[in-house]
Amino acid sequence: MKAQPIVRVEDLRKFFTRGSEKIDVLENLTLDVPEGEFLALMGPSGSGKTTLLNMIAGLDRPSSGRIIVGEEIISRMSEGQLAKWRTRHVGFVFQFYHLLPVLTAYENVELPLLLLPLSSAQRRKQVLTALDLVSLTDRMSHRPGQLSGGQQQRVGIARAIVTDPTLIVADEPTGDLDSKSADDILNLLVELKNGLNKTIIMVTHDPRAASRAERVLHLEKGRLVRETTPYPERSANGATHESEMITQVPRGREDLPR
Ligand SMILES: Nc1ncnc2c1ncn2[C@@H]1O[C@H](COP(=O)(O)OP(=O)(O)O)[C@@H](O)[C@H]1O
Ligand SMILES: [Mg+2]
Repeated sequence: MKAQPIVRVEDLRKFFTRGSEKIDVLENLTLDVPEGEFLALMGPSGSGKTTLLNMIAGLDRPSSGRIIVGEEIISRMSEGQLAKWRTRHVGFVFQFYHLLPVLTAYENVELPLLLLPLSSAQRRKQVLTALDLVSLTDRMSHRPGQLSGGQQQRVGIARAIVTDPTLIVADEPTGDLDSKSADDILNLLVELKNGLNKTIIMVTHDPRAASRAERVLHLEKGRLVRETTPYPERSANGATHESEMITQVPRGREDLPR
């Protein structure tokens, strides 16, 4: 049985303008992410992966089209509404961790909770649960500078999960890690999906990282060109299932100004 989509992207377009020049970054993107899926977005540098992820996470807004997460049409929200929505619904994992160097691991994980109406006892409970999930309870008083890259990213994952968000988004979460630490992080993401039914969208250009996801969407020049389904048990020969994306332009949009 296919789970209900938790994310729906409908006919999404995004362009930026630089002076009088218009730069199309995403064109006519339509995709669904079922609840509890671990999805990877792959594609060459500049293909629009981060732009797409940021729009799904409510950090940026489409030029046209709709994005629905859970019950809410986030593409219609004002900046202020989006900021509030993100706090509750999205956990972010970044390539370079984005931890505050003067705070301990514990305090870094606690940060997103300070924006929510919780008692300090509730916050403590959630922080400890999140740190336990990433097996860093014994390092909670360390500052980022006293932790390895892999440990810092585990703090990053604890911070992403601590609010129990609807969605976890990760932009190249293993991009700065050695392969052993990268595997630890990917194992954790798989665990969040399997154990907690978390929906995870991960941008990566590393095929090994992508192969840990259930489904991989391939972007090229702002379009979805392919969908692949890795089978970890067959990864010895790298076999995957592939299908071409239907990339037709929906009717009535061909004549939109470009
Ligand atoms: N704020 C912006 N203003 C102008 N162009 C942008 C902006 N953000 C991204 N772009 C352009 O959009 C394209 C896709 O960028 P990005 O989503 O970061 O790609 P990827 O993550 O796949 O490397 C690039 O050509 C980039 O230069
Ligand atoms: Mg990027």
